[in-house]
Amino acid sequence: MPRFPEAPKSLLIHAANRSNNQPSTRPTDDELRTARRAQVGREELEGPHPSMLGADPSDAGLAHADPAPDPSQPGPGQRWSTWRSVAKGQRGPEPLPDWLVTRDAAFDTELGILKTGKEADAFLIERAVPAGAPSEDTPSGGAERCLLVAKRYRSLEHGQFHRGTEYTEGRRTRRTRDQRAMEDRKSAWGRAVSATQWADAEFVALRGLWSAGAPVPYPVQIDGTEVLMEFVGTEVTDDMGGVQAVAAPRLTRERPSHDLLESYWEQLTHGMSVLARLGFAHGDLSPYNILADGERLVIIDLPQVVDLVANPFASDVLLRDCRTVCAWFTARGLDVDADALFADLLGQAL
Ligand SMILES: Nc1ncnc2c1ncn2[C@@H]1O[C@H](COP(=O)(O)OP(=O)(O)OP(=O)(O)O)[C@@H](O)[C@H]1O
Ligand SMILES: [Mg+2]
Repeated sequence: MPRFPEAPKSLLIHAANRSNNQPSTRPTDDELRTARRAQVGREELEGPHPSMLGADPSDAGLAHADPAPDPSQPGPGQRWSTWRSVAKGQRGPEPLPDWLVTRDAAFDTELGILKTGKEADAFLIERAVPAGAPSEDTPSGGAERCLLVAKRYRSLEHGQFHRGTEYTEGRRTRRTRDQRAMEDRKSAWGRAVSATQWADAEFVALRGLWSAGAPVPYPVQIDGTEVLMEFVGTEVTDDMGGVQAVAAPRLTRERPSHDLLESYWEQLTHGMSVLARLGFAHGDLSPYNILADGERLVIIDLPQVVDLVANPFASDVLLRDCRTVCAWFTARGLDVDADALFADLLGQAL
């Protein structure tokens, strides 16, 4: 997976605010001042990327010190779009959504960390075609700019993997060598395989669910330990013309009206039914892994999906999911029954 070279924060924020009809040259002083005022969903971002820690924000002056960059090449904090560098099977299902950027000329720009998790970090990425891209790259359709989330799994030595065999029981591993390696947690190969397999499992689950119409983010592609998916949230333009990307809040903090609560319940149980009919339970379903994107509800964080047929712990896991989500809806005033939901889902699965 190509990594992003280090970039001063000022340039990343500038990149976030660059529109496609602006030339992708080094920012002017005015642009830099605007960029410094701009917020890239700061209330949602946990902090700068580790590669930026220690970078002095007043380094905006670097813009003058460096030689002029080549706008046709990725700059600091950017890489070429990885869309073409992965095999077709590692990309999201068809039909491709019309907001997705698939052009070879696009750059990926890392805008910051959305959240540092126990096993993975979620980064906000802008995939955009820079102004002045070669005309032969002009596609028959397709978007010029989109926001994505890169969920990057850490290897066992860097993460605090808490998901145990309860989840993986009954899941077939592609290569027995991988299986043996995972059992030998001491081997570096084993640690790397584990991280890619959680990423694989999440991508495969997202693909199946999205194709079957469940409310999950569109899975854009997988590349090793990185899953790229649709950014669930909105972009708002402030008075200064700066753009803020604001991730959808987790359901846990929400206090929806009764009508919206009912709609959320319908969307959630629809998503759980799709999962059950495909033969899975989420396995870690809670208001922390459900995003409230306005009126739309989106289920996330699916690496631990549990096979309802092959996994001997599956019904316990499904019942726990049902109880956890029902507790939240009950606390908000909706009369729902975890046991009835569990029985209904189990009936659909079998
Ligand atoms: N597609 C998305 N769009 C917007 N925000 C997202 C998206 N995916 C993840 N996030 C944000 O990142 C957070 C962590 O994502 P996720 O739950 O998938 O990872 P995790 O490593 O399991 O984190 P945790 O350990 O906190 O559960 C989410 O709670 C959400 O705030
Ligand atoms: Mg989570």
